[in-house]
Amino acid sequence: MKKNLVLYFSVYGTAKKVAEEIGRQTDADVVEIIPAVPYDSNRDHYSALARLAKKEHDEDQRPAIKNEIVIDGYENIFIGYPMWWYTFPMILYTLFDRYDFSGKTIIPFNTHMGSGDGGTYSTIQKLEPDAKVLQGLPIEMNDAETGASTAVKNWLKSLNL
Ligand SMILES: Cc1cc2nc3c(=O)[nH]c(=O)nc-3n(C[C@H](O)[C@H](O)[C@H](O)COP(=O)(O)O)c2cc1C
Repeated sequence: MKKNLVLYFSVYGTAKKVAEEIGRQTDADVVEIIPAVPYDSNRDHYSALARLAKKEHDEDQRPAIKNEIVIDGYENIFIGYPMWWYTFPMILYTLFDRYDFSGKTIIPFNTHMGSGDGGTYSTIQKLEPDAKVLQGLPIEMNDAETGASTAVKNWLKSLNL
């Protein structure tokens, strides 16, 4: 079994590209967090997705995850997501509610259009107090489109895993 796992949630595919790049560079298993109700990935429908995401956020919803995710046995778990309304998508709360990352090393990364990580790396540490959360990597959406291989490489080097 591999010791690294990359978990990611992505609607437009950019966090997915970064996840796959991290997977290649760390020889990790790469697993998507799949929502039970799919989000519309057509970028022309951005306004509708923005409204839905805002509603989920304002109502503190926990959108269901469709797939069973196995985290047992992995030491290092990369967790990636896009920035939505200055924080992570609510389905990440579902993930942290459902799975216990105690004793694991969590390494966050995210895609964004200007908000950086929006404080989400500290939120993860608060939600998972018994996990070790390492310095994450925020990547602008345009840079993420190509997988950001050099940025990922330099970041991984700095982590000293
Ligand atoms: C509903 C929604 C809300 C967003 N809110 C923010 C935001 O608050 N800050 C930001 O920098 N980018 C924001 N974005 C831009 C996304 O972070 C960007 O599109 C992201 O790279 C998409 O990741 P994906 O391709 O993996 O789905 C938002 C995008 C969507 C769809």
